[in-house]
Amino acid sequence: MQVTLKVKRFDPETGAPPAFADYTIDVPDHATVLDSLLQVRDYVDGSLALRCSCRSAICGSCSMRINGRARLACKTKVIDMARDGEPVVVEPMGNMPVIKDLVVDMESFWAKVRQIKPWLQPVGPKPEREYLVSHEAMMDLSKVMNCILCGACVSDCTVLEVDKSFIAPAALAKAYRFVGDPRDGMQLERLREYSQYGGIWDCTRCNMCVEVCPKGVAPMDRIMQMRAMAIEAGLRNNTGARHTLAFTASVEETGRLNEALLVPRSLGFFNIPALLKEAPTALRFLRRGKLPIRQLFPPLERAIPGIRQVRRIFQKYEAHAKTEV
Ligand code: FES
Repeated sequence: MQVTLKVKRFDPETGAPPAFADYTIDVPDHATVLDSLLQVRDYVDGSLALRCSCRSAICGSCSMRINGRARLACKTKVIDMARDGEPVVVEPMGNMPVIKDLVVDMESFWAKVRQIKPWLQPVGPKPEREYLVSHEAMMDLSKVMNCILCGACVSDCTVLEVDKSFIAPAALAKAYRFVGDPRDGMQLERLREYSQYGGIWDCTRCNMCVEVCPKGVAPMDRIMQMRAMAIEAGLRNNTGARHTLAFTASVEETGRLNEALLVPRSLGFFNIPALLKEAPTALRFLRRGKLPIRQLFPPLERAIPGIRQVRRIFQKYEAHAKTEV
């Protein structure tokens, strides 16, 4: 088949801004995007820079954006990307500075992985022979241990686009690997650290990391598991935990989300400086009719007609959670 690769090229030595270059080549139907790029590099333009190693979706080095989404080039078939003969658009990963063409600088990625202390920290006496872990515990961790640190989730993370201090999905998925390991003795300390600004509470649940992960690690789900663990462990004195608890309390009380109360409950009723900072937003909401006045006076806020069913859902969930413990 004939395919056109539209590759984003950038050479820091020329100083020219990044620009797309088109390469039309013949490739077999089974060719991957990586096969095609290597063909371009070997036979058309030897200056094209890209990373790859295993060519089997194991090493994680060939992550790049293909048709607007982070993927492993060696796992992505050209035939699936070039529907109706459209060109295949290939760009470097996002959220990381580009060194040249499709090669990005992953230093910030590795720094965040190091930041979560990616090693076991057992406490207490050492076992005579080895630490034993139950089959169930390892099964829970096996999914996250499939991570090949390719960076696809970080590339397409929407929080990182606006806040570089976010630890980001890959490192937080790795963090779960140790928080969830029964051999680790620092679970509480870890959860406390990951609950700080830039950690588990800063994920916006956009689901991009789940969608692009080529190994089914589902980093966002691991982040949500750590949030539940942090609340369970009593780490509730932070905006994220308070926000979650305020949200559920509001729904349980009236069957509705009381947005007017959500902010003071999340930030703290006596946190005057933070509340004053939010005041202009609240006023804007009020002016545009997005904040019902009755929400400002909780006694006026009536529960919805089906509130008993809503509360029954809460009771069922709590009963289920207790049997799980
Ligand atoms: Fe190793 Fe693609 S080359 S994952």
